[in-house]
Amino acid sequence: MNSIAHPPGLPTDLTGRTIFVSGGGSAGPGWSIGRASCVTYARLGAHVCVVDRDAASAEETTKIIRQEGGIAQTFVGDVSEEDEVKRLFSEARNQFGPIDVLHHNVGIGKVGGPMETSAEDFDRIHKVNVRSLLLAAQEVLPEMASRGTGNIIAISSVAGMRYLGYPHLAYSVTKAANTQFIRMIAQQYAGQGIRANTVVPGLIDTPRIANTVAKMFSENSLDEARAARDKQVPMGRSGTAWNVAHACAFLVSDAAAYITGTELLVDGGLTGRYTQQN
Ligand SMILES: NC(=O)c1ccc[n+]([C@@H]2O[C@H](COP(=O)([O-])OP(=O)(O)OC[C@H]3O[C@@H](n4cnc5c(N)ncnc54)[C@H](O)[C@@H]3O)[C@@H](O)[C@H]2O)c1
Repeated sequence: MNSIAHPPGLPTDLTGRTIFVSGGGSAGPGWSIGRASCVTYARLGAHVCVVDRDAASAEETTKIIRQEGGIAQTFVGDVSEEDEVKRLFSEARNQFGPIDVLHHNVGIGKVGGPMETSAEDFDRIHKVNVRSLLLAAQEVLPEMASRGTGNIIAISSVAGMRYLGYPHLAYSVTKAANTQFIRMIAQQYAGQGIRANTVVPGLIDTPRIANTVAKMFSENSLDEARAARDKQVPMGRSGTAWNVAHACAFLVSDAAAYITGTELLVDGGLTGRYTQQN
């Protein structure tokens, strides 16, 4: 009788993999997407490079991971500056060896349409959101290609696909660029063992929302803004940083071994909804 070879259970284990998370801190106390992703990766056994220009915030993420018995190291620098990027990757490799996964998480924005967005603002936002992805990709792709394995994910946004009810031009344009950047490299490097995908969060309740887009939903109070934001979503609530982090962990793991060049929406159904303007 033929024996049936069983595949492993869902292979989400990341033991020993080195993951470079750009923007692994948080804009405020609590769980940002980068911080929740770093902690999730560490819980699955990865060696996590917590990279951020905010030293204290990155160190907080590293501390949480170490307190849980995980492995992490803080690397402080600006991921949109070429020299800084070279230094950060060199330090990360010295600590943990070759980078197995690049998680491009940094993202900044400024509310406004074309008449409220100066060329300087546009360049600044593009530099942090897109140029940084180019610089990081240039660091990891040759090494991943020569090893015949590697994984890249970028965090985009539903704002890069849809108008969310208020103008957010520079942010939205750069988030769309992130998605297409990833599609491009996924195709070019698919034959060399490298997978690249985009995670597209919807409305997520992270600390930075309080100081940025919350006022577009209500000027009165943060609670009212949160409630108004929640109401937009078919599932009736904003997402958590963990909802996004778990999608990231799936995509970088072997559970997603045959997935490349695509986008995973984590949006509670938001993107599929038709809403009538009042
Ligand atoms: N929160 C949401 O609703 C939402 C929705 C869709 C997409 N996103 C995207 O998810 C990602 C994380 O969002 P978040 O809300 O957790 O944000 P966050 O601001 O809390 O985290 C981003 C981190 O990146 C760091 N950073 C920014 N610029 C940097 C630079 N040049 N060099 C190094 N570090 C830098 C910040 O210090 C911060 O710690 C962003 O790309 C954001 O656009 C968020």
